[in-house]
Amino acid sequence: MNNTTERFTQCLMEWYKDNQRELPWRKSRDPYKIWISEIILQQTQVKQGYDYYLRFIERFPDIQSLVEADEQEVLNYWQGLGYYSRARNLHAAAHQLWQQGGFTPSYESVRALKGVGDYTAAAICSFAFDMPTAVVDGNVYRVLSRCFAIDTPIDTGKGQRLFKELAQQLIDKDHPATYNSAIMDFGAIQCTPQNPNCMFCPMADFCMARANNKQTAYPVKSHSTQTQDRFFTYLYIGNGEHLVLHKRTAGIWKNMYELPLIESSDNKAWQSVATSKEMKVWTGKALLPHLKADNVKHVLSHRIIHAKCYQLDTACLSTAEQLALHKQIEKAGCIVVDNADLANYPLPRLMTLLMEKCEG
Ligand code: ADE
Repeated sequence: MNNTTERFTQCLMEWYKDNQRELPWRKSRDPYKIWISEIILQQTQVKQGYDYYLRFIERFPDIQSLVEADEQEVLNYWQGLGYYSRARNLHAAAHQLWQQGGFTPSYESVRALKGVGDYTAAAICSFAFDMPTAVVDGNVYRVLSRCFAIDTPIDTGKGQRLFKELAQQLIDKDHPATYNSAIMDFGAIQCTPQNPNCMFCPMADFCMARANNKQTAYPVKSHSTQTQDRFFTYLYIGNGEHLVLHKRTAGIWKNMYELPLIESSDNKAWQSVATSKEMKVWTGKALLPHLKADNVKHVLSHRIIHAKCYQLDTACLSTAEQLALHKQIEKAGCIVVDNADLANYPLPRLMTLLMEKCEG
């Protein structure tokens, strides 16, 4: 270890003594609770994750309760967090754990759980089993790249290996759990993405990014990950008492529900969707589409969804028109749900947002 790496670890541990956050999952050494908290926190900021964690643990306090629940209920508890494949993986991993009789204090065995990557395995092993496994997440990339002025892109294999090695060198082997919590909090509170608090930073006199006044230039990305634009039009078909929903059978929203969807191949087709033949399939003489939401941008990790939503009020339909619509609903694999039962259907965040616009 050279002088700077030693100072880094010492300063970080000192800083943590005065600045640590009291968080519910830090009160426990139960690997189950730590695992749940880490998967939730991959999705969201600590502030929002806090309530999700408490609700989740209250309903599913241990592996057995999670194994016994059905996937739809687990997805319901996940609703609003996004990336629902994580909730499905969590449920599948609970079955793995149940079969193997619980957690085993070994990195390989924790890492083998569905949905557990290097970061989560390192977090669980350090927090639950005091193993010297350094976490590397967005906070760690930012803190280390700044302090040591590392400009290797973090979205390359080379960058990821380099940061992992450095993090492993820096971890306090006698207090690995405290060290990992400390670097997470330091990234979240002190060395923040936009306005790092360099004025009152214990690393200020050896942070190389600060020396060059280039804090926000780190971490460096190669921008090799492409985002894809998708153009969605949703239909809010109902009469105030019930609503038409469709169950997704694949993709990131698998087993969740959404409004009937028309997907356009590009922006141009999306702009004229109201007069498309797909729209005509749903509308009739009496059923006119009313635009309730337009240009809603929903950003996911590798795609941007451009969404709009039309309301089709079925209250005005004659019996014959209702029959025709029901045929259409069935043909499209949709279901009619009582508004009072909507809470039982897991919905992606985009859907609740659009539905609010139609109801408001
Ligand atoms: N972010 C991810 N894991 C965390 C943890 N255990 N504590 C605080 N923030 C986190």
